[in-house]
Amino acid sequence: MTTSLQRFNTRADEVLNMLRSTGQYKHLQMLEGPMDAVTKIKGYGECAVFCSNNYLGLANHPEVVAAGIEGMKKWGAGTASVRFICGTFTPHETLETTIANFLGVEAAYSFVSCWNANEAIFPTLCEPGDLIISDELNHASIIDSIRLTSVIKKGVLKTVYKHNTIESLRETLATAQKNPEVTGAVWVVTDGVFSMEGDIADLAAMRKVCDEFGAILVVDDSHGTGVMGQTGRGTHEHYDLPGKAIDFYTGTLGKALGGAAGGYVAGTKRGIELLVQRGRPTLFSNALPVSVACSANKAIEILAREPERVGKLRENVQYARKGIKAAGFDVLDSPTAICPIIVHDTAKAIAMSKRLLELGVFVIGFGYPVVPEGHARLRVQISAAHEREHLDKLIAALKKL
Ligand SMILES: Cc1ncc(COP(=O)(O)O)c(C=O)c1O
Repeated sequence: MTTSLQRFNTRADEVLNMLRSTGQYKHLQMLEGPMDAVTKIKGYGECAVFCSNNYLGLANHPEVVAAGIEGMKKWGAGTASVRFICGTFTPHETLETTIANFLGVEAAYSFVSCWNANEAIFPTLCEPGDLIISDELNHASIIDSIRLTSVIKKGVLKTVYKHNTIESLRETLATAQKNPEVTGAVWVVTDGVFSMEGDIADLAAMRKVCDEFGAILVVDDSHGTGVMGQTGRGTHEHYDLPGKAIDFYTGTLGKALGGAAGGYVAGTKRGIELLVQRGRPTLFSNALPVSVACSANKAIEILAREPERVGKLRENVQYARKGIKAAGFDVLDSPTAICPIIVHDTAKAIAMSKRLLELGVFVIGFGYPVVPEGHARLRVQISAAHEREHLDKLIAALKKL
């Protein structure tokens, strides 16, 4: 008899062998030091880092590290339980108030990741008769959250609109208005900054069209927070929109705001209250580690104290984009810190990334299933931690490539 485990092993080997033989196998690099503008990578030595979301250079900031250590000393590792059973530590409450104030909304609630925050928002806040309208290139966590919603709450409808295209969104909203099955709320959801394209959602136009049709606007600004707008509030600030122009934000603490982990939903008091009362990731999963909450609080404090970090990031982005173009590569025009170089073929992207590592530059090649088949790319990411020497090293390596 062939056992289930044998069947599984055969199937798993087929996939893994295919990945190896076609050059698509991902090799995880071993870091021998902390994440910064430069880090030490096993087998490659000191490399300039251009693949981290450490946009503000806070992941290894001494104050962020110290806040985490102090937090752990004071509060221990955690409550060994979920929050509704064993309570909330003061740093969580402080963090949530700080995030709400930073974004200019009524309330926020933290999660162990933004993946978790996205997984909480739609299944909890939507009900049968609601419709969720999603940009076709939204992050995987948004897509999965919507899929989950339609499974656990049958009767929640879903559809997509053409990437970042207001006319397509308007048509979808107009169709929804005439659909008798849509009896509840209409939700429109977008990334603020798209993680693979590096372009930005037209939030000003989206707000207008959502108002026209009375729809709720949800923005995952994981790559916009700390990066976009004069003071790093995010993509809404880039458009001079007040925080409340967006009904709900989701975001991560694992990128610009400290870089460890963690996420949040921010928005109306009612929405947050429902997430606390009914969200499955809230009711059945432990809180963000308190040390991470302390580090994230410190990261937001540093951002508020040193807005010049956002200015430096912007200058670095302009310099790098110009240099990448001068090196002969096409990079999408955008003010964001994500600079994708499209090379189409996954194996090619992985091979190029390996060659860059040999040249002392850490850039990762992305292929299927992270991006659609045929759209493989090198994703270059810029940080405020980079100095000119790092950016020049990147450009020189790209020229050699
Ligand atoms: C747009 C977006 N949303 C959510 C996430 C998930 O964030 P986290 O790592 O906090 O789960 C990511 C991370 O890649 C992201 O880019």
